[in-house]
Amino acid sequence: MTVQTDVLVIGSGIAGLFYTLRVAEHRKVILVTKKQTVESNTNYAQGGIASVFSETDSLQMHIDDTITAGAGLCHLDVVETVITEGPGLVRELIDLGVRFTSNGGTLDLGREGGHSRNRIVHAKDLTGREIERALVMRAQSHPNVTILENHVALELITEHNLRGAASASGARVHCWGAYVLDKERSVVKRFLARNTVLSTGGCGCVYLHTTNPSIATGDGIAMAYRAGVPVANMEFIQFHPTSLFHPGARSFLISEAVRGHGAILRNRAGERFMERYDERKELAPRDIVARAIDSELKKHGDDCVFLDLTHLPAEDIQSRFPHIYATCKSLGIDITTDLIPVVPAAHYVCGGVCTDLHGRSSIRGLFVCGESAMTGLHGANRLASNSLLEALVFANRAAAATLADTPAMPASADILEWDDSGTYNTEEWVLISHNRRELQTLMSDYVGIVRSTLRLERAMRRIELLLGEVEDFHKRTRVSEHLIELRNMTLVAHLIVGCALRRAESRGLHFTTDYPAPDPALSQRDTVASIFDAP
Ligand code: FAD
Ligand code: SIN
Repeated sequence: MTVQTDVLVIGSGIAGLFYTLRVAEHRKVILVTKKQTVESNTNYAQGGIASVFSETDSLQMHIDDTITAGAGLCHLDVVETVITEGPGLVRELIDLGVRFTSNGGTLDLGREGGHSRNRIVHAKDLTGREIERALVMRAQSHPNVTILENHVALELITEHNLRGAASASGARVHCWGAYVLDKERSVVKRFLARNTVLSTGGCGCVYLHTTNPSIATGDGIAMAYRAGVPVANMEFIQFHPTSLFHPGARSFLISEAVRGHGAILRNRAGERFMERYDERKELAPRDIVARAIDSELKKHGDDCVFLDLTHLPAEDIQSRFPHIYATCKSLGIDITTDLIPVVPAAHYVCGGVCTDLHGRSSIRGLFVCGESAMTGLHGANRLASNSLLEALVFANRAAAATLADTPAMPASADILEWDDSGTYNTEEWVLISHNRRELQTLMSDYVGIVRSTLRLERAMRRIELLLGEVEDFHKRTRVSEHLIELRNMTLVAHLIVGCALRRAESRGLHFTTDYPAPDPALSQRDTVASIFDAP
């Protein structure tokens, strides 16, 4: 079955939706998303969007904070572009109906780690849900937009999918859409488009403990890599220092804005330990706070540390963080009187698919924006709340670039249908679930906050075995969402470990005991991986 449109958008987080609204004024858009429309990392964002609105702040200060956090790997042109264009686009979100928290008409600005000023625009502690609500409402009512839920993109369509295609190496490859599994009908459809946008978010689910929802399996990164687009900096996985440690809510985040509001980190002995690690204490950049917690846990053999808000006015906490208050309360923790048990969890991938300043990938017609992209903004460590900002700016720029370019399409008859001949429907769920769990366990045990060459090499050997097994299973079996995700997660894990092994230094989020210091020679050098270089 074939569906044809001007533009195919894959993913319905902030990047995919904002891009969609921009191009829909001039093009027909089909947006496919693998679960319900709102289900995305965006929907769970708490802290907010970092952007310069205060008179005591400046673009230069935000640029400097971003570069400091990025530990020598940020691309300066990208940092300047994102931070300069950000405030205008935050205003446009407000015009689109997003209701940010304000005091008497002035935006209320929160504080998070690594920021030298209050600059986090937020909707209490439910910023992502509010953004998603407003953007989904606009997109659903736009006459040029069709949203298809429960549609999982599994492979991009390029020259390799043309009838009698010669190898595309050498000439610039094009993307003309994607093969997409319609989960309700259990059928793979061809979606053909002049332009395709990957906005599939991150890959937190390759780890056992993550703040990410189950959609975050790195699908876009894996699809682009298989199609030949370079991927970079995958070693820089950000662990959020404070995810709730409770058997009833394994992936619930306690926003960094809580520390920005004055919360203190204590170990089980009650000691405020951050002052031993960094003079910025609880508001040091995330990599430093997460490593400090990891060190406290290992030193004392504890399973969690604690956030202490008990010295802050109870009414203020309830009104500023209503979602965190209510969620913890439902689990028996009153955050105004009790300490909150927290541990670090995989949160964000700073690496991703390489793009230029317009969200363009190396394949013509293929754009990548949001968490799936490696634009150069974050370097070795993302500054808190710079992710929603990056997604907005690059979605906007990619939309402008899309409207300026209309690549030619081959006749649809020349593009191959999805071929599943020779595959069969084996219900071997146990193979998928076992491999998924094994992958997540080894990533958590061997590729966490503190790494070593021995552990990375051990992880690599096991991941290579898993990759072989999963690819073999994939060739023999009719595709399912779980199998697509496992295949992508295994490839993304391979990319993370491969990049980590190549970075023989400690920098930002990549800390290895074999090379505990940064190597000045590696400053400004991204770790680029391409399928054409793979052995
Ligand atoms: P997402 O919002 O993750 O959307 C991805 C979309 O792609 C989803 O709709 C998904 O279903 C779809 N998809 C994935 N694979 C496929 C496929 N194969 N086929 C079809 N559809 C697919 N950042 C900040 O800047 N500020 C914050 O306060 C903040 N808080 C956060 C709190 C939490 C708990 C988490 C998890 C992240 C937070 N982040 C925050 C990070 C930020 O939310 C994300 O980086 C950002 O929302 C990513 O947006 P996106 O549009 O790229 O992807
Ligand atoms: C948070 O609210 O702590 C998350 C902010 C972010 O990931 O940028």
